[in-house]
Amino acid sequence: MSRASATFAALLLLAGFARAQDDAGYVSYRQNLMGGMGHDTGAIGDILKNGLPFQKNIAVHARSIADRARLISAAFEKKAMGAPNDAKEGIWADWPKFQKAVANCQTEADKFAQTAQGGDMAKIGEGMKSLGKACGSCHEGYRKRKEESYKRQVPGAHPMQ
Ligand code: HEC
Repeated sequence: MSRASATFAALLLLAGFARAQDDAGYVSYRQNLMGGMGHDTGAIGDILKNGLPFQKNIAVHARSIADRARLISAAFEKKAMGAPNDAKEGIWADWPKFQKAVANCQTEADKFAQTAQGGDMAKIGEGMKSLGKACGSCHEGYRKRKEESYKRQVPGAHPMQ
């Protein structure tokens, strides 16, 4: 290899590396955003299942989910795949359709935040199911299945919810 082409190859490698580094930040951010919603739904589940004396906290967790749902779209705008992740190509192949799944989750999360404020435990239980469906219907189409998840390959990755 000539010196010039070796330099060129090294530059290309560096550019690729920079891109992957850049991707890693975006991937980590969107996973942490999602993980936060997972923790909030998990915390509500803990309160409901175990009858914990934190019923008033449900409204706070619900508010947090509704706020986070507004951040989903921008978090996925960049097609960052250069780090271990569970996002499917379909997100960017049909972005408007993905946006519908985002909007549906926002609507459900807003409804649930209202219900949670009301404090009626039966309604809150029902509301959790509807919200869970909104999360699940997006995951079904746009998130890799457990068997294919990066979490099976990467030690120390966030545990699968
Ligand atoms: C519009 C689509 C969409 C909606 C709505 C959505 N998710 Fe996700 N979620 C994803 C995608 C895509 C991933 C994979 C992200 C990645 O690995 O880069 C993911 C990953 C996750 C993860 C794993 C994060 C990690 O650490 O790897 C959790 C937990 C999660 N979502 C919880 C939720 C909860 C709870 C809701 C509903 C309140 C929700 N999600 C709504 C698309 C969505």
